[in-house]
Amino acid sequence: MSSYDNFTEMKKFVGFSSEDAENLKSIAHVFEKHGPALTDFFYETLDLYPETATLIEGRVDSLKATHARWMGELFTGVEGGYDEAYFNNRDIVGAVHVKIGLDPRWVEGVMTIIRTGGHAALAQELESAAELGEKFNSLCKILDLDLMVINLSYADERLTRLATFTGMSRKLIENCISSG
Ligand code: HEM
Repeated sequence: MSSYDNFTEMKKFVGFSSEDAENLKSIAHVFEKHGPALTDFFYETLDLYPETATLIEGRVDSLKATHARWMGELFTGVEGGYDEAYFNNRDIVGAVHVKIGLDPRWVEGVMTIIRTGGHAALAQELESAAELGEKFNSLCKILDLDLMVINLSYADERLTRLATFTGMSRKLIENCISSG
């Protein structure tokens, strides 16, 4: 199964629907308002740990700009939706982080900041607990799908590198991993 087919299957698995896309569109304004503070906190946190601080040193402003683009696309999709263009866009994000030598646990960790900060922002702006529950669910689905794509891309990039450095075929490495 191709990576894009995996993504399509996982969208179905988590129940990501056109209603979720509508919910996300309807909360874009909340993140236009609260997103910059969330992004600042994201980079302040990365700056506290030497392993991540070294990677962002001297480029925080440009990283904040790419991060703002990434965040905006959560609510609009890419090319108007959450299909192949969206998948390709998110797939690159994983590969970029492998290339800089970042351990994936940091990506997992900072996604929690987006989830919890996102919940706090929605709680401030939305009228009712029911609306908060419904729209936060849609946010969680798209963040988890993004994380899934990033993680799959990490795994794929690592296999490719292992195959390149060892001269072993990808198929052989995959067979070694999956053999009981
Ligand atoms: C939720 C987690 C994260 C998201 C959504 C995210 C998003 C992004 C995006 C969209 C880019 C630009 C990719 C491109 O060039 O097309 C990027 C690049 C980058 N990110 Fe992240 N990021 C995350 C976590 C992290 C963490 C934990 C670090 C830790 C240091 C980090 C450091 C960087 C760096 C240094 C680059 C620039 C890479 C390069 O072009 O050399 N990111 N990130």
